[in-house]
Amino acid sequence: MTAGDARLALTPPMGWNSWNRFRRQIDEQLVRGIADAMVELRMRDVGYRYVIVDDCWMARSRGRSGDLLPDPDRFPHGVAALAEYVHERGLLFGIYSSPGETTCAGYPGSAGHKERDAQLFAAWGIDYLKYDWCYATDVPSHAFLRMRDALAATGRPIVYSVNGGAASRAKPWSWGGSDLWALDAVNCWRTSNDIWARWDTDGTIAERSIMTILDEQVGLERFARPGRWNDPDMLEVGNDGLTDMESRTHFSLSSMLAAPLIAGNDLRDMSAAALAVLTNTDVIAVDQDPLGRQGRRIRRDGASEVWLRELSGGDRAALLLNRGSEPLTVEIAAAEGVLEGDATYSVTDLWSGSSIETAEVLRSIVEPHGCTMLRFARCG
Ligand code: GLA
Repeated sequence: MTAGDARLALTPPMGWNSWNRFRRQIDEQLVRGIADAMVELRMRDVGYRYVIVDDCWMARSRGRSGDLLPDPDRFPHGVAALAEYVHERGLLFGIYSSPGETTCAGYPGSAGHKERDAQLFAAWGIDYLKYDWCYATDVPSHAFLRMRDALAATGRPIVYSVNGGAASRAKPWSWGGSDLWALDAVNCWRTSNDIWARWDTDGTIAERSIMTILDEQVGLERFARPGRWNDPDMLEVGNDGLTDMESRTHFSLSSMLAAPLIAGNDLRDMSAAALAVLTNTDVIAVDQDPLGRQGRRIRRDGASEVWLRELSGGDRAALLLNRGSEPLTVEIAAAEGVLEGDATYSVTDLWSGSSIETAEVLRSIVEPHGCTMLRFARCG
């Protein structure tokens, strides 16, 4: 299997990435600490695998040979040693690059060096590449395919995750060139501008709230399938700016969207509530459902929304969302496609764990910015 092969991500990748919480403040001690925490907190046991170092890991210029160098002060032992540390803990290691002259944060990019960089990344033992889009002059789809080919030429199986740039983030079909073929070359593609830990207030042009990103995902479900995932950006669970309830809803919605579950908080120092969200195995099972069919919004009515996801074995997940600031009763009817014909189901609330009696119409009082997430398990 070479880079970007669908079999490398038959379910959405799960892991951690440094960007949301740490930006440029990254070093090898942090990354080691995160790998240790992932094991100790049993996050590895519930599916988290990739430890991904985002932008800003590089020195300000390439070495004399032309190779990228890690920042000597922050990564004194080099990337290969760090990858080894992560591998020794039964985890996988990811890194970041970008096709422009510089990365989004102004560090050396892969322009003119794709083959060299791919070879170096493979030699270092990376298992995942986040390939961003800033200051590049190429057509996105061409740049993505060229890096995919360069990674594939190394023979190392590497999950390949790309970002199509501000203009096309929510529209992978506008990457240019022969368009949609690119979706067969990558494992995940960003479908939003950068996430911001806010419920519904947007920041600068590059920052999008949880609700804005959610709205941008409507209609994209037709592109997702095993090995090929829409990526509405990394998780903000546990970061300042979201309440515990909002974190829970954000995680639930990500699972309905079959999104990569890439934690973006400080795993070494998080609340019990954040850990409980990130490790809810019932919700994770929805995200990781092997059928690989992304959920869709079936109804929006003021502040209330209903999302539905078809799961393997005839199961269904439903999410009743309250976007507003007052408690709200949200309903879902069997006729909305949740229940099929004569089949019987058992229904579980995935946050309380309690069983719910099936009915033609289910009603739930949903807290402000909260959700009720249900699994309809087919039993006959
Ligand atoms: C872009 C990406 C972010 C992050 C930064 C790093 O903005 O969208 O996810 O990788 O670059 O500079």
